Amino acid sequence: MSIPTPTAPPPDIVRCAYLDLVVTDLAASRDFYVDVLGLVVTYEDAEAVYLRSLEEFIHHNLVLRKGPVAAAAAFAYRVRSPEELDRAVAFYRELGCRVERRAEGFTRGVGDSVRVTDPLGFPYEFFYDVEHVERLAWRYDLHTPGALVRLDHFNQVTPDVPRAVRYMEDLGFRVTEDIQDAEGTTYAAWMRRKPTVHDTAMTGGDGPRLHHVAFATHEKHNIIAICDKLGALRQSDRIERGPGRHGVSNAFYLYLRDPDGHRVEIYTQDYWTGDPDNPVVTWDVHDNQRRDWWGNPVVPSWYTEASPVLDLDGNPQPVVARTDTSEMAVTIGADGFSYTRPEDDEDALPSWKQGEYKLGHQL
Ligand SMILES: [Fe+2]
Repeated sequence: MSIPTPTAPPPDIVRCAYLDLVVTDLAASRDFYVDVLGLVVTYEDAEAVYLRSLEEFIHHNLVLRKGPVAAAAAFAYRVRSPEELDRAVAFYRELGCRVERRAEGFTRGVGDSVRVTDPLGFPYEFFYDVEHVERLAWRYDLHTPGALVRLDHFNQVTPDVPRAVRYMEDLGFRVTEDIQDAEGTTYAAWMRRKPTVHDTAMTGGDGPRLHHVAFATHEKHNIIAICDKLGALRQSDRIERGPGRHGVSNAFYLYLRDPDGHRVEIYTQDYWTGDPDNPVVTWDVHDNQRRDWWGNPVVPSWYTEASPVLDLDGNPQPVVARTDTSEMAVTIGADGFSYTRPEDDEDALPSWKQGEYKLGHQL
């Protein structure tokens, strides 16, 4: 079942660059991403809206494309040179994957590109050639209190995390953090090319699915401002989880759901990981500070809901069920438990706190 390591070297990936996202109501999605979150429109027509963050100089970080099924059409990575596309083709052909190369690109503003359905079933894209646009970093007259300044990462749901990690390491990614248990089950892993905590993460669950796409703000107060704005607009029901401080990544976070239910994270202030001997951080799945440093509970929808992904013909990929135990089941399910202090026994959490971690306990 493991994915063989190709003899062909992987493409040299610089960073996660954009997400190609299918939405069912383009006007509603434009309102959310442009009018509420303040992403910048590079180009738009009746079929699609091309958006970028305020510090971006490439054409887009997010494409909203009108379509019948809300889904992720491509996770796109920038590579270091045009020649890396040949490497991407050879790498994925050796893996037996479907590979499509288009000199004119798959999206406006992007040139020669390779799209593949990868061994995990995800649509991955690689490109170098791209139209440069104005970097609005100094245009503070355009910045809002919740300004989104960079695309930070993707998060993917896949049934077998160790299998996915081995393939991603073959593709040149390095693990920075993960969540495991004493029995050897891995529940999630974070992997990077750029020197932050991640360009993408693999979350254990039924997949392939898109868990979320994340944009960065400069500071924590920018995230609070987004919450205040959503409240003022009577759109607080867009907030799924947070704001809070992650244990994993140490970043400040907020999770939102867009009009189609696609999950968007707002994220800031993780740490440098660029040294060759950057230490991997492993969290115990039962540590209730791993996903929220302040011990706030994770809502069940965050564990169970995610967006479909498409094959290269635009059809939703079939979803394979996870067979390892789920993080939700071992932490907040009927038999789940978690601790604040590892030396504590299961009853050490105060009764009012246990109810937050065990579904049904509060009844
Ligand atoms: Fe994230």
